[in-house]
Amino acid sequence: KRILVLNGPNLNLLGTREPAVYGHESLKDVEELCRATATAAGFEVEFLQSNHEGVLIDAIHAARGTVSGIVFNPGAYTHTSIALADAISGVELPVIEVHISNVHRRESFRHHSYISPVAASVIVGAGTNGYSLAINQLAHLTR
Ligand code: DQA
Repeated sequence: KRILVLNGPNLNLLGTREPAVYGHESLKDVEELCRATATAAGFEVEFLQSNHEGVLIDAIHAARGTVSGIVFNPGAYTHTSIALADAISGVELPVIEVHISNVHRRESFRHHSYISPVAASVIVGAGTNGYSLAINQLAHLTR
């Protein structure tokens, strides 16, 4: 069984980007956490980050038939992208939406998500541990 862990724009800067908001762990640290959690849950992991909306859409399309679910932090595209929401609806895979920060405690433009209505579950404000929670939730859903 495989899962895709997908990260959107600016998450390549994790660890150095607004550490008061996003913490000190790098994307590489997040990848290691995901691999360890996935192994324990019996999954193989594909890990991808892109700053480009179209690349994220292509990755969601390619996930159909190759993975059993997606852990997705869409970054700021969360709040803007109908195209990503349509891609998720199109592939009929369970998606767990993750936000490292508690978006509801931040600016009002971060309170709306185009992704949440098409997500199976949403995890916000748990820091990078949210990725681990999301992987375990996927394991639960696809058991
Ligand atoms: C984020 C929250 C978004 O509002 C922001 O644009 C990000 C990261 C998070 O993980 O908390 O890039 O998705």
